[in-house]
Amino acid sequence: MIYSRIAGTGSQLPDKVVSNHDLEQIMDTSDQWIRERTGICERRIAADTETSATLAEEACRKAIETADVDPAEIDLFVVGTTTPDLVFPSVACLVQKKLGLPDCGAMDVNAACSGFIYALSVADKYIRCGDARKVLVCGTETLSRITNWKKRDTAVLFGDGAGAVVLEASEQPGILSTHVHANGDYKDLLTTKVGVSRGWDGMAESDGIPELFMKGNEVFKVAVRTLGRIVQETLSANKLEKSDLDWLIPHQANLRIIAAMARMLDMNMDHVVVTVDRHGNTSAASVPLALDEAVRDGRIKRGDMLMLEAFGGGFTWGSALIRY
Ligand SMILES: CC(C)(COP(=O)(O)OP(=O)(O)OC[C@H]1O[C@@H](n2cnc3c(N)ncnc32)[C@H](O)[C@@H]1OP(=O)(O)O)[C@@H](O)C(=O)NCCC(=O)NCCS
Repeated sequence: MIYSRIAGTGSQLPDKVVSNHDLEQIMDTSDQWIRERTGICERRIAADTETSATLAEEACRKAIETADVDPAEIDLFVVGTTTPDLVFPSVACLVQKKLGLPDCGAMDVNAACSGFIYALSVADKYIRCGDARKVLVCGTETLSRITNWKKRDTAVLFGDGAGAVVLEASEQPGILSTHVHANGDYKDLLTTKVGVSRGWDGMAESDGIPELFMKGNEVFKVAVRTLGRIVQETLSANKLEKSDLDWLIPHQANLRIIAAMARMLDMNMDHVVVTVDRHGNTSAASVPLALDEAVRDGRIKRGDMLMLEAFGGGFTWGSALIRY
């Protein structure tokens, strides 16, 4: 039996820090409201020279270095993003040759905030079926570019960044299972109202950007319910108990959602990796950013059992159970 295992992780954040107090200067909000409702204190925002591709490139470079693999041996490159630099070529294609990858398959996966979990599931399947031995997987986003900075209901929530992992074939697990789901009936709760094929008619009402809209409290309720179901599905599929988990690495949208998941899993918060306070919601980048942080600071160790989960626009949701 072939499994995939994480050989190395990497991440990249823009230098620019925007605090809640900075936002108080440009919109009708308060540090107290943002902290109490979301747990966010600050977020990183891309400079004009930074894009989803440049952040991805750095995160991937670090993951390749940590994994100590030759980039020429990578068989596939999968990037989860919903804010690509261009309609095409994909972020994966823009970055591929800069990293020294061969003419391997390179693609973006758009599953909004679940993009990294979706990308990881594709990579895992390629390795399990024997079509690839080493796969580079990245989640990268610049949601600040589709945020309307005059609107307090969304502008306080998001940030930019990228995270990456190198997966390699192994006789030992590794990734035990991945689970992905979607339900397009919820398409209007978290969306952009303009797009390529639909056209750009709505741009004027959103200050000339393809603005992100969210019905926050409705998303909140579905997210908690749905994530509760998927972590249970993931444990059941592996015949494991909540107590078998060492770490929860959740999508970082809101500290209250993260805390609800920890309660459902009977996990103490010191076994939950939290970055939302410093990163905000970085969409597809949030899970690999959190993973890389906890691996690098020594909290996550080889052999630990990790539950990764994410939820986002679509709606999409997904999970991965990993023996690190
Ligand atoms: C967005 C979110 C933080 C809002 O928190 P909430 O408790 O649901 O707050 P509501 O939207 O009900 O708004 C409550 C009040 O705060 C106000 N408010 C909204 N944003 C505000 C801000 N930044 N600062 C101050 N007040 C704000 C609202 O206008 C509303 O005022 P009202 O009661 O006078 O009408 C929360 O709903 C959330 O995190 N949703 C889920 C996001 C998510 O999981 N996304 C996952 C996919 S990416």
